[in-house]
Amino acid sequence: MRIMVTGGAGFIASHVAQAYVDGGHEVLVLDNLSSGKKENVPAEARFVFGEVGSETAVEAVRAFRPEIVNHHAAQINVRKSVADPVFDAKENILGTLVLLEAAREHGVRKIIFSSSGGAGYGEQEDFPAEESHPLRPVSPYGVAKVSVELYLHFYRVQYGLEYTALRYSNVYGPRQDPHGEAGVVAIFCERFLKGQTALINGDGEQTRDYVYVGDVVRANLAALTRGDGLSVNIGTGIETDVNALFRKLRDLSGSRQEEIHGPGMPGEQRRSVLQNRLAFNELGWYPDVLLDHGLALTLAYFRDKVNSSGTR
Ligand SMILES: NC(=O)c1ccc[n+]([C@@H]2O[C@H](COP(=O)([O-])OP(=O)(O)OC[C@H]3O[C@@H](n4cnc5c(N)ncnc54)[C@H](O)[C@@H]3O)[C@@H](O)[C@H]2O)c1
Repeated sequence: MRIMVTGGAGFIASHVAQAYVDGGHEVLVLDNLSSGKKENVPAEARFVFGEVGSETAVEAVRAFRPEIVNHHAAQINVRKSVADPVFDAKENILGTLVLLEAAREHGVRKIIFSSSGGAGYGEQEDFPAEESHPLRPVSPYGVAKVSVELYLHFYRVQYGLEYTALRYSNVYGPRQDPHGEAGVVAIFCERFLKGQTALINGDGEQTRDYVYVGDVVRANLAALTRGDGLSVNIGTGIETDVNALFRKLRDLSGSRQEEIHGPGMPGEQRRSVLQNRLAFNELGWYPDVLLDHGLALTLAYFRDKVNSSGTR
């Protein structure tokens, strides 16, 4: 298949693009390199530098004629979305709409969209959250994810453009940016390995559902042929608090750092964990990588990176 991957220079989608290439697909990556890196793009993929909502992106769809558009490009900073909701909506809603218009005009069969369970459900009522949980996002970033899912439904009904929205929990693994505001695993890995203080925000009892990027990649492979018209949670169903994560990574890295707590993040969600039964039933997907193993793989990646940059 010909597959266009937006955001394919970034953390998650570069792994997805590589898996598509490895599966024998023809891949075009579109990315504006705002947070992604060119070296993450698989060597076998074509690369187009550009904004999702730009004429360049539309031209890429017209010329490449992908069967699938896998849409991962996004402004992912939740705090920035709160500070500048107009910017967030331009990138994450309007940019996506331009892409959807191009997709329907140029014969794309299906969109695979990287949505968010945590940001979409907001403060949860049920644990783990099923897909039927009310959508009450508490950030413009979350509002944008929910909005795009609604647009996807509209494009399906109106034009027959298929979609699967993958509602990720907290994805971690190699290539995650340790300098962003999210990605606590990447941040802790780098700080422990560099001997810098790793700070726990607030009491550290806030929980997340950590899913390994390799497992997320398998969901994106399954969605090529399954899960049409669905929004599907991609998570482990297991809650881990930040204190436990801190201890696991500290012990794995050989650091002896005491737990140090900083101020809590205003508005930070308290608990987030996703039910994954639908993913199993509809995509045949189940997470393979247990947290301890995934953390060890991630730490090994950051160890190589820190050693090769000579900044240890
Ligand atoms: N990391 C997580 O835990 C998580 C959870 C839920 C959903 N998601 C979603 O998965 C997707 C990928 O996230 P990630 O963690 O890999 O982040 P990332 O920042 O590593 O990847 C995003 C990529 O998109 C590119 N990009 C950003 N805005 C763009 C634009 N307007 N035009 C073209 N390219 C643009 C960036 O340069 C980057 O390469 C995002 O849509 C994000 O919202 C991530």
